[in-house]
Amino acid sequence: MAFIKSKKEIEALREGGQKLAEILRKVVETVKPGVTTKELDRLAESLILSVGGTPSFKGYHIPGAHTPYPASLCTSINDEVVHGIPSEKRVLKDGDIIGLDIGMKYKRLYTDMAVTVGVGAIDAASRKLLLVTEHALAEGIVQVRAGAHVGDISEAVQTYAEDHGLGVVRELVGHGVGHAVHENPPIPNFGSRGQGEKLREGMVIAIEPMLTAGDYAVVLAPDDWTWKTKDGSRAAHFEHTVAVTKDGVRVLTKI
Ligand code: MF3
Ligand code: CO
Repeated sequence: MAFIKSKKEIEALREGGQKLAEILRKVVETVKPGVTTKELDRLAESLILSVGGTPSFKGYHIPGAHTPYPASLCTSINDEVVHGIPSEKRVLKDGDIIGLDIGMKYKRLYTDMAVTVGVGAIDAASRKLLLVTEHALAEGIVQVRAGAHVGDISEAVQTYAEDHGLGVVRELVGHGVGHAVHENPPIPNFGSRGQGEKLREGMVIAIEPMLTAGDYAVVLAPDDWTWKTKDGSRAAHFEHTVAVTKDGVRVLTKI
């Protein structure tokens, strides 16, 4: 089947994923009050090009009535959940949180990852939001092995998030990745153990919990890209590209 990757492809995805993680770390190190989201995007793009990669989000069309995504990085501040567009006019402030989502094509293969970080000093509720979302991603990742179901990931993420009082966004989900930015199967952050597609050795998926401090309802902003919480509460997003192995999982987008 098309979405099974060979050992050689997984090695190349690992190489690209490691480079992508190093790039995102440098972008994160640049986050501070006074920096614009456009500056972060420019840095991300130049670092991707410097390793011989291509920014995979730039020019990407989501099937449907969208304009192509105009940047190399998604920058989503506070109540913005995902797909915020970098701008010269968006200046980071002390106490903000910002989601940074980045994708690269490298040796013809695609990896995808995201983190959410604080700008300067953030309040306790935001610290909790970031910690629980990052941990929810880990809860999902440890479910992965050949023979497990997509629903095992979904339920683990949802249970951990809701046990900690956070909302789980329904409209947006994780996905297969590797030969394209988005492939099958969808990987929801809500669902039930045993349901959904069975994971097989060589599948590569992006797991990406999007959690909210308040209600989980989201709305699409007039720019046609930025998803925001309906109630204005803050949201966080963490993402890794992982490969399914015979007895477990290999995280491809880490240093
Ligand atoms: N991590 C994002 C997602 O899976 C990557 C797509 S952003 C886009 O939705 F701009 F390229 F659409
Ligand atoms: Co993704």
